[in-house]
Amino acid sequence: MLDHKQVKSITWKDGKLYLLDQTLLPIAVKVEEQMSVEQVWDSIKQLKVRGAPAIGVAGAYGLVVAMQDKSHLNREAFLAELQEKAAYLDSSRPTAVNLSWALKRTVKSVETSGGQSGAELLECLTKTAEEIHAEDIELCRKIGEHGVELIKDGMGLLTHCNAGRLATSEYGTATAPMYLAQERGVSFRVYSDESRPLLQGSRLTAWELLHAGVDVTTITDNMAAFVMQQGLIDMVIVGTDRVAANGDVANKIGTLGVAVLAAYFKIPVYVACPASTVDLSTPTGKEIFIEERGEDEVTHFGQRRTAPEGIKVRNPAFDVTPHELVAGIITDRGLIRAPYQENLHKIFGE
Ligand code: MRU
Repeated sequence: MLDHKQVKSITWKDGKLYLLDQTLLPIAVKVEEQMSVEQVWDSIKQLKVRGAPAIGVAGAYGLVVAMQDKSHLNREAFLAELQEKAAYLDSSRPTAVNLSWALKRTVKSVETSGGQSGAELLECLTKTAEEIHAEDIELCRKIGEHGVELIKDGMGLLTHCNAGRLATSEYGTATAPMYLAQERGVSFRVYSDESRPLLQGSRLTAWELLHAGVDVTTITDNMAAFVMQQGLIDMVIVGTDRVAANGDVANKIGTLGVAVLAAYFKIPVYVACPASTVDLSTPTGKEIFIEERGEDEVTHFGQRRTAPEGIKVRNPAFDVTPHELVAGIITDRGLIRAPYQENLHKIFGE
């Protein structure tokens, strides 16, 4: 039988990068070796690897894949090629800041390493990518530690999209407090929004929580108001792709609707993320660039067309929840409360 804990979104082994093809879940578990930087770009674009922290880690390793056969280059040529490949990978998805954060960090570590030969620079590049990967596991565990106390016996939680193990290297962000609460024997239920159009909630969150033995129920997005009205939800926990300096948060399309509903029913909404998702250079949510994806995701359900030919379509992949609707941001550095502008700056403004 499949041990779901062994199913990793990203595996780095013997200098090779393997990505789980998350578009095939929950039907099939298939891992693909990434043979070129173009393949890594495509895997990120197609959401084979997805979730803010995971695309950061995949991007950093993508640079290693890009530069692996460039160790013969001198320092200047190596750095020029590295910068070009980083810009290319960064163009795959725009909203989650973790991707550009990881690429910038990786490039900077190589630039400042003092290495002269291509081989030395490649070694430094690989080391930084491995560090980002290892840190991600540690940071998610810390998010769990800072959020676990929020989950009390008997609670019903609602989550949207997938901010779980599959979106990170382990534990997840929104799911980290849940996994830790489970380890401590707290009894709780989770409602997982389906998350149209790509169904990360039902395909991925429901899959990973179910296999982890968490009491999970899948609902379609338009059922959230109903379950809240029935008193089944005590708290919402979601992930985020970017936190602006004022505490506005971008997350999977539909999160704003959930937050508005929760405010009506007086249910607190918590957002979980690592430090790499906090972007103090973006003043408010208005400046967050929202990815628009292809129209087929909206006009089709799987392979089947469900909207008329020629219809006008919008497909924003994310929305922004204003900070007024956020009860707290659970990070690896602690639980941040309002006033966000001030408190985010205090904790992340180094
Ligand atoms: O389009 P996706 O599947 O990459 O969107 C993912 C989300 O919106 C997650 O909630 C977010 O990245 C947080 S992941 C820990």
